[in-house]
Amino acid sequence: MASYTSTGFVPTLLCALLVIQALKFSHSNALTNVSCIRVERESLMKFKHDLIDPSERLSSWTGKDCCKWEGVECNEETSHVSKLDLRNPCDGPWECTLGGKIHPAVYELNHLKYLDLSFNNFSTQKIPASLASLQNLEYLNLSHGGFYGDLPGQLSNLSKLQYLDLSSDQWEHPLQTNNLQWLSTFSKLKYLDLSCVSLLNPKEWLSPINMLSSLEVLILRGCYLRDASASLHVNFTYLRFLDLSNNFINLSIPPWIQNFSKLSHLDLSSNDLQGIFPIVILENSQRLKFLDVSSNRLEGELLKNLTIFCKMQVLNLGYNKFSGQISDTKDDALICGQSDLKIIDVGNNNFSGHLPNQFWNFKNLESLDLSLNSISGPIPITMSQLSSLRNLCLSFNKLSGSIPESIGLLSNLELMDITNNQLHGVVNELHFANLTSLIYLFLDSNELVINVNASWVPLFQIHMITMSSCKVGPQFPNWLRTQRNIWELGMRNASISDEVPHWLLDVLSYVGSLDLSSNMLRGNISQIIGEKMPQLFQVSLSTNNLSGNIPNSLCMSEGLSFLDLSKNKLSGRLPQCWRKSQTNLGWISLGENKLNGLIPNSLCHLERLVVLGLHENGLSGVLPECLLKLNLTVLDLSDNQFIGRMLPFGQQSLSFAIINLERNYFTGDIPLQLCHLATLQYLSLVHNNISGGIPLCFDNFSRMWANSTSTPFIQLADAFPVMVNIKGTNLEFTKTLPYLFSIDLSSNSLDGQIPEGLTWLA
Ligand SMILES: *[C@@H]1O[C@H](CO)[C@@H](O)[C@H](O)[C@H]1NC(C)=O
Ligand SMILES: *[C@@H]1O[C@H](CO)[C@@H](O)[C@H](O)[C@H]1NC(C)=O
Ligand SMILES: *[C@@H]1O[C@H](CO)[C@@H](O)[C@H](O)[C@H]1NC(C)=O
Ligand SMILES: *[C@@H]1O[C@H](CO)[C@@H](O)[C@H](O)[C@H]1NC(C)=O
Ligand SMILES: *[C@@H]1O[C@H](CO)[C@@H](O)[C@H](O)[C@H]1NC(C)=O
Ligand SMILES: *[C@@H]1O[C@H](CO)[C@@H](O)[C@H](O)[C@H]1NC(C)=O
Ligand SMILES: *[C@@H]1O[C@H](CO)[C@@H](O)[C@H](O)[C@H]1NC(C)=O
Ligand SMILES: *[C@@H]1O[C@H](CO)[C@@H](O)[C@H](O)[C@H]1NC(C)=O
Ligand SMILES: *[C@@H]1O[C@H](CO)[C@@H](O)[C@H](O)[C@H]1NC(C)=O
Ligand SMILES: *[C@@H]1O[C@H](CO)[C@@H](O)[C@H](O)[C@H]1NC(C)=O
Ligand SMILES: *[C@@H]1O[C@H](CO)[C@@H](O)[C@H](O)[C@H]1NC(C)=O
Ligand SMILES: *[C@@H]1O[C@H](CO)[C@@H](O)[C@H](O)[C@H]1NC(C)=O
Repeated sequence: MASYTSTGFVPTLLCALLVIQALKFSHSNALTNVSCIRVERESLMKFKHDLIDPSERLSSWTGKDCCKWEGVECNEETSHVSKLDLRNPCDGPWECTLGGKIHPAVYELNHLKYLDLSFNNFSTQKIPASLASLQNLEYLNLSHGGFYGDLPGQLSNLSKLQYLDLSSDQWEHPLQTNNLQWLSTFSKLKYLDLSCVSLLNPKEWLSPINMLSSLEVLILRGCYLRDASASLHVNFTYLRFLDLSNNFINLSIPPWIQNFSKLSHLDLSSNDLQGIFPIVILENSQRLKFLDVSSNRLEGELLKNLTIFCKMQVLNLGYNKFSGQISDTKDDALICGQSDLKIIDVGNNNFSGHLPNQFWNFKNLESLDLSLNSISGPIPITMSQLSSLRNLCLSFNKLSGSIPESIGLLSNLELMDITNNQLHGVVNELHFANLTSLIYLFLDSNELVINVNASWVPLFQIHMITMSSCKVGPQFPNWLRTQRNIWELGMRNASISDEVPHWLLDVLSYVGSLDLSSNMLRGNISQIIGEKMPQLFQVSLSTNNLSGNIPNSLCMSEGLSFLDLSKNKLSGRLPQCWRKSQTNLGWISLGENKLNGLIPNSLCHLERLVVLGLHENGLSGVLPECLLKLNLTVLDLSDNQFIGRMLPFGQQSLSFAIINLERNYFTGDIPLQLCHLATLQYLSLVHNNISGGIPLCFDNFSRMWANSTSTPFIQLADAFPVMVNIKGTNLEFTKTLPYLFSIDLSSNSLDGQIPEGLTWLA
């Protein structure tokens, strides 16, 4: 999901897009020529009978020789069924699944050495204790099999097991076990994956594991592990693969992890590990290829000397508290003689220093993420030596200087994110000369000038591009015309002062996120928002010179969540066609235009609406009463020509924080229901014809505010850090917003006493 930042709608940390490899399964047909044993065939027939097999995977299960059936293998000498491999061969998650019940006859195949039922849907059953009668099993794979419930302790009878895989999904934890004692008999076990099996006793897991002296692969991802502190003498020294990610281990990295000299894969990510990362792990584990300790609270100056990482392929230190210089070498000299690194992700730490000046020894590097640190200095010209690079993320640092043209040689580059630095200078065609693979380009919040020829035809087809606060104009960038795949276009405050080009609609037909605000675009808005924009979910065209009516097609965008067309010259009536199915629409800002007519009742269909800004228009008439039921936080109707009694806000929805009705023709009393609005922070009724007295209950507000520490603005800010115009001043709702806390009732015909606590209002 995209997250909003104060610079627009840049989805940060796209860099985390890592390659997920699809596993290809090879399915071995039984090639043996032995004929099968009758009892075993009958067991298999019973088993098949109870299965649900919509894709007819078991259609070969007919005839006498069960050893020839798909997924069945027999021992050549004894003819006993030795292998049953019903692993789902399809790629799609729910294609080709077997379901139904597992007939207990299958547990009579007691010569079975290999049983694989992975990626099926036996979701109605527990793992039966009778499985334990398959005492010759060496390989048991029930991963993603759909089983649920307690693991039977009888499994400990399977003492010949070498491979045990009971893993399942990240988000469901269907299987659980009280403890891992039942494992300790598995002296031959090499491979154990219990990912997402809930350990009900999360502290007692290590000593049973330590009995498994043959263990090579241990995966306990998302098992709710807590403690790992036992000071144990490590028994399973053959370990080469250790994954304890997504648990709740909140200590320093336990010392026993240092003792695996054969370790090649270590994943401790997404725990709550603290303290200095022990470099000794790296010194002791010379074969380490994969290290992921991201999303913890680890510290240390780990990148001072990169040498120690040179033989690795994947290094992920992101989201920690690591610090110190990156590459603390004299005159930026070589760091690795030769490096195998493919992925370096050290984003969101506290690294400082300059980028190194030599990259030729990183020929395999595909992804480099240094974002959200304090790295300064220039982007070196030599970065073009990273010939395999696909992702380059340098955003939110202190890089300065201009972008070297040589970056345009990175012909494999798909993602370049350098937003929020102090880069300046001109970006021209040469910067993109060989970037044929580029699909994500984020340049916002630098001091860059984009200066490409009007006839330039880029070699890429971009999918997401943001250049907010760069100087893109004054002409509308003509090269965009060649792009057919744009999903996000962000050119806020890009100094574009031009007519909307006639071809823009074609370019935007698949757009989801569009921000062209704060430019000087002229022309009819219908040249930007067309009849059909099925993917549209956020639009900001605010602060331009656009004219025309608000397009009715906006009512057809089911996904629309954010609409800001404020500060233009839009005219006509508000769309009448808002629909209940627009369940995402939370923000409508149409202030400072030339709109007229009534607020349509259909607006009240938008049940998720949080912000409604219609100020400074020519809107008139009586407010529809249904507005009362919307859970609005901000309602700004100021500077219009509304008439009639002010609605009793607070009668239904209590979510209001800001109500601005200034400069209208509202009449009648101040409704008492306003006092129900416990989260109200700003109310202005200035310049209306309100009469009567100020309700005594207004006294409550000052008492409430006196104690207020948190406000709904904080939540609002996370979702929509965008300007709203109140009282003629732009207020950006960020966490630094001074709380408003104000009521202004002046210029009305109010009489009577001012309530005691409110005298400061007068
Ligand atoms: C099957 O066995 C027969 C005789 O026992 C033999 O002639 C034949 O070559 C074998 N076939 C295979 C595929 O091993
Ligand atoms: C179990 O099967 C799944 C795929 O169905 C596979 O990814 C996993 O590696 C298997 N486990 C073992 C130990 O072979
Ligand atoms: C899995 O099986 C259960 C019970 O037979 C069934 O309700 C469910 O729809 C199946 N799930 C899928 C994705 O096929
Ligand atoms: C487990 O092993 C014990 C002792 O060898 C035996 O008595 C018991 O029947 C076995 N359990 C199962 C379910 O096979
Ligand atoms: C190491 O493993 C062996 C065999 O599995 C076991 O007998 C021994 O108790 C274990 N040692 C420790 C310290 O756990
Ligand atoms: C670890 O988590 C436990 C349980 O949440 C808590 O009591 C303990 O204080 C935490 N320890 C540290 C060092 O954060
Ligand atoms: C690591 O191994 C060494 C040598 O085998 C041993 O002396 C030390 O106690 C072990 N440390 C841990 C934490 O197991
Ligand atoms: C970096 O570490 C390597 C191996 O750990 C060491 O040989 C080298 O001297 C170190 N370099 C510097 C500059 O500290
Ligand atoms: C970041 O590192 C600098 C020194 O390089 C240190 O002064 C500062 O406190 C660190 N900031 C955080 C948030 O850890
Ligand atoms: C870059 O593109 C030009 C022509 O577009 C080509 O001649 C040159 O070989 C390319 N360079 C690299 C490094 O791909
Ligand atoms: C408005 O908020 C109230 C209280 O939080 C909630 O019960 C109600 O369902 C909300 N209405 C809508 C339409 O979301
Ligand atoms: C404000 O806080 C004070 C002291 O904590 C408390 O006595 C008072 O009741 C609070 N007032 C309100 C309106 O919550």
